Formats: sequence, C-alpha cells, structure tokens
Amino acid sequence: MIIALTGQKGGIGKSTTAVSLAVAALASGRRVLLVDADPQGTVRTWGDVAAEAGHDTPTVMAMGASMHKPGQLPEVAAAYDLTIIDCPPRHGEIARSALMVADIAVYPCGPTAADAWALTAALEVFREAAALRSALKGCILITRKQGRTALGKSARAVLETSGLPVLSTELGYRIAYQESLACGQGVTGYAPRDAAAREITHLLEELEKLHHGQKASRGLATKAAVA
Ligand SMILES: Nc1ncnc2c1ncn2[C@@H]1O[C@H](COP(=O)(O)OP(=O)(O)OP(=O)(O)O)[C@@H](O)[C@H]1O
Ligand SMILES: [Mg+2]
Repeated sequence: MIIALTGQKGGIGKSTTAVSLAVAALASGRRVLLVDADPQGTVRTWGDVAAEAGHDTPTVMAMGASMHKPGQLPEVAAAYDLTIIDCPPRHGEIARSALMVADIAVYPCGPTAADAWALTAALEVFREAAALRSALKGCILITRKQGRTALGKSARAVLETSGLPVLSTELGYRIAYQESLACGQGVTGYAPRDAAAREITHLLEELEKLHHGQKASRGLATKAAVA
C-alpha cells in the first residue's frame, strides 16, 4: 500500500501525520518506507534526529518529481508492506508524481469551514489524476481539531460535499504530535496512552480498510470516491 500525504496548504500536518503513521506501522511489524518528497526535508531531518537518539525508524528516502518513473518508487516500494510519501505544500510536479504511484491520497484539512473551502477548491489536481488512474483513491483527514466545536462540525459538513470521503478518524490538536517529532519519534512510541496514539492507530486501520475496499466508517459508507 502506498499512501501520499498531500495538499496545497502548508503547515497543516502532512509531515507530522506521515511520520506518526509510519512509526505506528513499523511498531506493528510492517516493513515501512517513508519517502520525503518535500525539498524542505522535514522527514529527513526527523530521520536524522531519530537515528541519533537510537529509535527504530522506517527506511527514509528522498525522492522528487520523477518518483513515478520506471525503476523508481514503484520498484523500491515493492519490498515494503507500506510506503508513505510526504509531499510538499503546493500542487507542483512532485505532488503530481506522487499521485501517479499512490494507492491512496490523503488530504489533511484543518477544522474550520475556511480550511474546508480552500481544500475543496484545490481538489482539481486529484480529479485529474484519478481520471488517469482508476485505482487511485482519495480521502480527507480532519486534523488539528480542538474539542467538539461548532467550527469542527461545519468543516466536516463542507467537506462532505467535496466528492471525496471524509475519514471518520479525526486528529486533535495535541502537543504529543509536536513533541514526538522533535524527539525523533511518532506519537505511538512517545506517548502510547495519549489520545494522539489512539488516533494514529485508528487512522492506520481506517486507511487499510479503505485500501481493501471495505466500508470503514460512517463517512466512507455514505460517500463514493471521485474516480
Ligand atoms: N495534530 C496536531 N496537533 C498539534 N500540532 C500539530 C498537529 N499536526 C501538526 N502539528 C504542528 O503543526 C506544524 C505543521 O505541521 P507539519 O510540519 O506536519 O505540516 P505540513 O503540512 O507538513 O507543513 P508543510 O506544508 O510546511 O510541509 C508543526 O509545528 C507541527 O508540530
Ligand atoms: Mg511537511
């Protein structure tokens, strides 16, 4: 399974979610490849910190806009159970390349209606890729959510008209996400009893169910992927 964390907006939690998902999958015994496709190098820097601290890490590899080409990522990913691609903000060539190899594109989205409007407008790139690749699935992940606010509810309502399924797993705004990365860990290792660890575990399960075509959640049961 190849998952791309992507989307136009910066600072929304792509890298944080990619790392924590990868670490959770690694801890459950899977072979995991974490692809840093962002020239900012957040994931590579995290990998250096993790190695320095002696933590178990997935294989970290930098790739760019040619990752979809023959002999590149598809061949490398075949040796792993799970590959996670951390894309840069902006829908440039790198994000397009990731959409040519991913099984699932995950679009993190903030909890406000404004976040949802911005994302909905930016999904054209996904639709273009899905038109070329019927196997490509897409989904939206609500993240950085603070409590059960009315704002949070309205983001979900807006997103459910976007044409992409909204995952039932939501990630809260939690300090554990920030601290774990800084220590070269993921939330499941850093704070296993924190709600953040449960969220990441549920997210991994939900994405696996989506990959295998099961109706993983309320949202997925009622929404069909654009393809
Ligand atoms: N669920 C969360 N709760 C609290 N803080 C978070 C959460 N997710 C991410 N953050 C924090 O938000 C900031 C941006 O996160 P991150 O770097 O993962 O975003 P990004 O989408 O990868 O950004 P960029 O587009 O620049 O690559 C970081 O400081 C990170 O610690
Ligand atoms: Mg990032």
